[in-house]
Amino acid sequence: MNISSFLKTIHPFPARMAPEIAIRRLKHLEKDTLILDPMLGSGTTLKVAGMTGLRGIGFDVDPMALLISSVWNRPVNINKVMRIAEQVLRQAHEMQDAPYLPWIDYDPETLAFVNFWFAKEQADDLRKLSSLISLMSCPESDVLKVALSRLIITKQRGASLGRDISHSRPHRVSNVNDFQVLPEFAKSVRRICKILSFNPGSHLISIHEGSAKHMDSISDQSIDYIMTSPPYFTAVDYFRGHRLALIWLGYTLSSLRLLRDKSIGLNRIPTKPLDDALIQELFQGVSHIANLRPKVQSALQRYSMDLLEISQEFFRVLKVKGKMTVVIADSYSSGLLISNTKIFKNAAKLAGFHLEEVEERPIIATRRYLPPPNSSGGNRLGNRMKTESIMTFTRK
Ligand SMILES: C[S@@+](CC[C@H](N)C(=O)[O-])C[C@H]1O[C@@H](n2cnc3c(N)ncnc32)[C@H](O)[C@@H]1O
Repeated sequence: MNISSFLKTIHPFPARMAPEIAIRRLKHLEKDTLILDPMLGSGTTLKVAGMTGLRGIGFDVDPMALLISSVWNRPVNINKVMRIAEQVLRQAHEMQDAPYLPWIDYDPETLAFVNFWFAKEQADDLRKLSSLISLMSCPESDVLKVALSRLIITKQRGASLGRDISHSRPHRVSNVNDFQVLPEFAKSVRRICKILSFNPGSHLISIHEGSAKHMDSISDQSIDYIMTSPPYFTAVDYFRGHRLALIWLGYTLSSLRLLRDKSIGLNRIPTKPLDDALIQELFQGVSHIANLRPKVQSALQRYSMDLLEISQEFFRVLKVKGKMTVVIADSYSSGLLISNTKIFKNAAKLAGFHLEEVEERPIIATRRYLPPPNSSGGNRLGNRMKTESIMTFTRK
């Protein structure tokens, strides 16, 4: 089976794992191998694992990552999806007025956000779809949520007034929109169903909400192989784009902020005093630290400690002599190159891992991401990450 031809994603996701990286490493593993992706994003690693006949477990803190990857990685009754989609569309067409959505209409901040990012006509139709889908509790309704989200998380024109949302760099470009939400929703459902109609191995995968720092449901030394791609320092703020769709799926902005607080890689200063000696070890061989503004320096310290904490948790759950493959790229802050790769290597070594192999690989242009617009000096095209490192470690 040529796996890569079956890896068409059901929804965009920034900084997605290149499937060929996972395929090359997973395809020779024995059938019973248990793979963990603790920061699963789009769920590509687990998709490859399932298709290869391996068992997989995944975690993430972003509700969008969890939604997309669970729909993509679980068995689904396509006929039922099509049936409930038809029913939702019929009812939406019959509705005279746009319904109230309590989590939006009783929350002035979320309501103002909706009014800023959506024109009335699209917002009214999204309200109809959202109110009908939120009443459903079957697993198939998650497919409809992904279909709705796809209308919004787009690079070009979509249901919102923004562009570049799929890259998590949303900016509003207009006050008017002629996007037809209901017919586009019907197309979106059909497209996803087509992809999901061939879905081998999905029964082998389980996906959980939770932080990679504390995967309490996973026993010590129970995982055979970890494959993941941690966020890069200040490279992508996943919630910035995803919230435009998540507010139609029952989330308020404040609830999303609480979840975002669990994300690593964002430009945030530490909330507790950090151990100086550890920071020095994590920064070993990393250039430009002294040239960073004090606030960025302390955010980088927090990021480095986060990488250490996740490495320690990966060490706890991995079997002795188990392997871990981590894909990570360096990123830019204030125009200076930050070696996420070196920091991760230092963190993994401190946690007890032995580095076995490093492979450098060019990132194709369509997968490169710019730093967030507010990171000063980091907005230049030259600052796109051009290569990524694939590092394989062994647990001692
Ligand atoms: C570089 S992306 C992963 C890309 C992924 N390999 C893919 O194929 O899409 C990093 C992911 O880490 C997640 N993340 C950030 N902080 C996390 C945490 N503390 N625990 C679990 N996941 C986290 C983000 O939500 C994001 O989905």
